[in-house]
Amino acid sequence: MYEKTKLVSLRTAAEELGVKAIHLKDESTRFGLKAFKGLGGSYAVFRVLCEKLGLDHRDAVFSDFTTEEIREKCSDVVFVTATDGNHGRGVAWASSLFGCKAYVFMPAGSAEARRKAIEDAGAEKAVICDLNYDKVVQFARRQAEENGWTLIQDTSWEGYEKIPQWIVEGYLTMGAEICEQLDGDVPTHVFLQAGVGAMAGGILGYLSNVFAAKEPVFTIVEPSMVACLYESAKAGDGNIRSVSGDPVTIMAGLNCGTPCTITWPIIRDRAGFYCACTDEVSENAMRELARFPKEEERVVAGESGAVTFGVLREIIKDDSMKREMGINEESIILLISTEGDTDPEGYENIVAQNDQDITKLRD
Ligand SMILES: Cc1ncc(COP(=O)(O)O)c(C=O)c1O
Repeated sequence: MYEKTKLVSLRTAAEELGVKAIHLKDESTRFGLKAFKGLGGSYAVFRVLCEKLGLDHRDAVFSDFTTEEIREKCSDVVFVTATDGNHGRGVAWASSLFGCKAYVFMPAGSAEARRKAIEDAGAEKAVICDLNYDKVVQFARRQAEENGWTLIQDTSWEGYEKIPQWIVEGYLTMGAEICEQLDGDVPTHVFLQAGVGAMAGGILGYLSNVFAAKEPVFTIVEPSMVACLYESAKAGDGNIRSVSGDPVTIMAGLNCGTPCTITWPIIRDRAGFYCACTDEVSENAMRELARFPKEEERVVAGESGAVTFGVLREIIKDDSMKREMGINEESIILLISTEGDTDPEGYENIVAQNDQDITKLRD
């Protein structure tokens, strides 16, 4: 069930872009769910159940949850969450693994394929609501309060911190795998995409501790329509800012208007740069990653997964930006492609578009 995902060395791109190495963690195969998100949801579900059942999480193992008595108790537990797709799929999968129920709510504009994948992963029900992401989170929160369900949300706010903290701890599995797979290479630059910033903040904190002797330059990447971390940093008073309205972007996983309060301080204090970018940047990167000449370098990277590679390419085109960020022929770049084709039809449509785009980029 658990298997490390690959760290792919993009040698062709590194050569072309004039850097020493580009390492890309490919999360498209994680747990068969096509995104890193299951790491967080499953760990939080596990911790909640340990607490409810009086098990010590430090030595509890999956077989502890398979006895008839425990299965019976788990079947009474109901989880609820809001999601733009991947988190809900992870919670649905983990809930059914432990024999619990899960209700999942999604914002307006969510792809039907992503909704169906959540039900297929084991949710009792996944529903697309006529609300934006932030409002769906509030809706799920009320559902939990009114029905006595447990909210497993991948973002935090004042008074709701314990479960999101567990979710971030689950994501750190990626950090541990990356450090092992880097095999002695020390990244000089790390690009992390962000929705609420729980993943980016967690991984940033983890890597900056591991590489404390020579801390990499961290860049946070968001869709320009909904760059809430960039807006928070720009405000300059240390507090979070929300982006309201109904932002539209193909990067569904990053379409979140309010930063996660527990990871924001890490990002605020340690990120060097913020990039807000258009959908086109991600689309170009999806095509390029899908079609590298060498098969071992090809990656199925979805809309939210490919964007950091796209941003790197844009930065390298701009000499002054490159200089400011200290990117040169000695740079070792680390990227995480956080999802595969989680909306297969949308992915195919983008990747099938004109090949000339790549030729254009390479000119
Ligand atoms: C594929 C993908 N990448 C990145 C993220 C961003 O994670 P976070 O919301 O913790 O910033 C998400 C969030 O759902 C996602 O689904």
